[in-house]
Amino acid sequence: MNTLLVLFCFVNFSNALDKILVFEPNSLTIEINKSDNLEVSLVDDIENKIFLNFTYGDENEEYLDTNIVEKLDPIELGPFKNESVKLKINARQVGHLVIGAKSNEIKIPFSDIFRVDVIHSHYINILIQIIGWVYFLAWSISFYPQVILNYRIKDVSGLSLDYILLNILGHSCYSVFNISFYWISQVQKEYFNKHPRGVNPVLLNDVFFSIHAASITLLTGIQCIVYKRSEHNVSTIAKILFLTMVTILLVTGIVCIFSGISILQYIYIFSYVKLAITLMKYIPQAYINYKRKSTVGWSILNVLLDFVGGSLSLLQMFFLAYNYNDWTSIFGSPTKLGLGLFSILFDLVFIFQHYVLYRNSTNEYSPIS
Ligand SMILES: *[C@@H]1O[C@H](CO)[C@@H](O)[C@H](O)[C@H]1NC(C)=O
Ligand SMILES: *[C@@H]1O[C@H](CO)[C@@H](O)[C@H](O)[C@H]1NC(C)=O
Ligand SMILES: *[C@@H]1O[C@H](CO)[C@@H](O)[C@H](O)[C@H]1NC(C)=O
Repeated sequence: MNTLLVLFCFVNFSNALDKILVFEPNSLTIEINKSDNLEVSLVDDIENKIFLNFTYGDENEEYLDTNIVEKLDPIELGPFKNESVKLKINARQVGHLVIGAKSNEIKIPFSDIFRVDVIHSHYINILIQIIGWVYFLAWSISFYPQVILNYRIKDVSGLSLDYILLNILGHSCYSVFNISFYWISQVQKEYFNKHPRGVNPVLLNDVFFSIHAASITLLTGIQCIVYKRSEHNVSTIAKILFLTMVTILLVTGIVCIFSGISILQYIYIFSYVKLAITLMKYIPQAYINYKRKSTVGWSILNVLLDFVGGSLSLLQMFFLAYNYNDWTSIFGSPTKLGLGLFSILFDLVFIFQHYVLYRNSTNEYSPIS
């Protein structure tokens, strides 16, 4: 037991010793042809002063041919940690850069870096943030109209139980993924071991959004149990899909406990389940509307808010790609773009069903949409 404790301390201690350099701040966002400053210092006092040359790369590569910033001159640093050196970064081209350092005297870790983003305009960045808040709000509110509608008519006959069931699982998986990346240090450690220069892909508002979404969909699920629903029930296909996915999560969980896969790999499986669910959850709802030839009981406000949120998130992706000159993040990883377009497509199907195909369907309830 004691040996284990000592070992544990040793591991922690050696990790803490890994870092040699401190960059303050550790990231800069500069407009093209402007400049900004940062300071570099040592984490701890060392024996002799060192000479540093800077390296220019990205998250994966230490050396890349780049003209994004003007190259920095070599510097002398130390030997005391209180002696920092000021660096002036002149931005030359729009793009993203990770700047590290090397020295003949001492080995500088691959992860001792600072990030530079050269952008077209700070105004566009403000716009990007505003768009981000608006779609975050639209998406968060979008869950409520359905809950309120169910509460008012005390009837969920117009709602696909398959959709609700899959949605609960999907948002729960997404919450597990976000919470793990944001709060579980073992997951973060494994992630940064794999991507020493990476950034945590999960932000605090992702965590809040997903927990909120999971709670509200769960509430909708409870409404489906309590309120009247004609004869329809969860379909056999949906039950099989649901049980298959839950079984996959349980089995891989057991494999993970016995170290067959790492906890990071296990957490990624939750995101794959969420992805799969996003691709299929709308289909049963569209089918129910088609079968009933009506969208009564299915909140169109929910759909409209989802549509606004989805469109704005795509718009934000394009502004980001333009301002950071980073089109590979859109077209290089088609998942986010594809999912966004897919949701928007289904929102359009629902809008078409509500306002065109079944606009005359007899409304048994007070006209709430
Ligand atoms: C930045 O400076 C270069 C050369 O000095 C010039 O050609 C370019 O137009 C400038 N870009 C902007 C956006 O000001
Ligand atoms: C840094 O600390 C050393 C002693 O540890 C001292 O000799 C030196 O003057 C200090 N330098 C500055 C810039 O404060
Ligand atoms: C840093 O660059 C100088 C020339 O600018 C070179 O003489 C020196 O060997 C380089 N040091 C390292 C660690 O690459």
